[in-house]
Amino acid sequence: MIKVDLSHTVTPIPLEAYIQDVKSIDKKIKERTGLGGDFLGWTTWFKDYDKEEFERIIKAAEEIQEKYEVLVVAGIGGSYLGARCAIEALNGLFPTNKVKVIFVGNTLSSSYVAQVLEYLKDKKFAINVISKSGTTTETSISFRLLKELLISKVGEEEANKAIFATTDKKRGALKQEADAKGYQTFVIPDDIGGRYSVFTAVGLLPIAVAGLDIRKFMQGGYDAMVELDNPDVLSNEAYKYAVARHYLYNNNKSVEMFITYELQLAQLGEWFKQLFGESEGKDHKGILPDSATFSTDLHSLGQFIQEGSPILFETILNVEEPQNDVTITKDDNDLDGLNYLSGKKLSYVNKKAFEGTLAAHEVDGNIPNIIINLPKMDEYNLGYLFFFFMKACAMSAYLIDINPFNQPGVEIYKKRMFKLLGKPQAK
Ligand code: PA5
Repeated sequence: MIKVDLSHTVTPIPLEAYIQDVKSIDKKIKERTGLGGDFLGWTTWFKDYDKEEFERIIKAAEEIQEKYEVLVVAGIGGSYLGARCAIEALNGLFPTNKVKVIFVGNTLSSSYVAQVLEYLKDKKFAINVISKSGTTTETSISFRLLKELLISKVGEEEANKAIFATTDKKRGALKQEADAKGYQTFVIPDDIGGRYSVFTAVGLLPIAVAGLDIRKFMQGGYDAMVELDNPDVLSNEAYKYAVARHYLYNNNKSVEMFITYELQLAQLGEWFKQLFGESEGKDHKGILPDSATFSTDLHSLGQFIQEGSPILFETILNVEEPQNDVTITKDDNDLDGLNYLSGKKLSYVNKKAFEGTLAAHEVDGNIPNIIINLPKMDEYNLGYLFFFFMKACAMSAYLIDINPFNQPGVEIYKKRMFKLLGKPQAK
């Protein structure tokens, strides 16, 4: 499925030297005995998931599609990035779906929230509030405001039917409210953390509402789970990738630039940054993940990548087959000098940009490039890709002795902000 190409890394990656380390970390992942081992539920999720809940997700999505114009997803971090990424990657930036899926709860920007509330005033909308803890400030504020608007439009009884809550099975303020009000609820399992939760109801409900086939998405994840269940770094593509980035990190490359050649994959860069950044960036260690879309950003960050501080390597997602294509037309006057391309597909030009940039960065710029080849972008392949990155991320973090599944640093801003806001101490 996915093929990792390590032939453009400037210095060869000594995979053989990692055989034993990878094998013993793989054992820890399997046996759940490594740091944060209680949060490895996603590694076997495709066998363990609640089949009855999966069918309820499909039913809820159909209901939302029938009754509403907009689904507003309220969530932040792992509670929204996966769904947003999948929907944009697969439906593009100008989707024609009947139901529009929009995102709030991911910001404290008053301008943004006010604009969303204004936009929703004359729309028939449902809310999917997503929070594992049930107490995240950004999400809770947006949810409160959305709820008020909804109740003012349709009354409390109808509003309660239009609210879908994805949260912890038992604990938290959101779970208590959902039970009291009778919202439909979906579960975020105890052993799966936010950024590893895209295959749970967190991702599945919004993705299904956007008209995408979540059975194929799960099948992609399942196949990745089976194929990447292999301790051999020489033949496990996710581990190959993890080792390559680890080796480059140890060789003074502290920034990873994740590159795609499709504008609609920009959110994949956001998901990627969260997954690796929040998983690995601890104890003053870890690679800083960044992302760029080429050729767009070749006209901005491209300058830095080519000739700036030599601190980075690139990881390129090469989607081999485009979702759509256009043919460049012929113009009799040829004033723009483009007739040399007439009859050619735009995807062909994009591929040549990829090949030319690869040579410019690798050969002229000495910048290591890892290439991840994916046959195409559809539900199945995206499911596969998400799992590939999750598995690679766990291996990467363990290679530097980091717990991939906690985020202690995130609490520090919250503590300071709550003090300034005068939040009462939890009893
Ligand atoms: O990956 C994570 O764990 C975080 O990014 C969380 O998903 C994010 O902080 C949202 O948390 P919650 O779902 O509890 O609102």
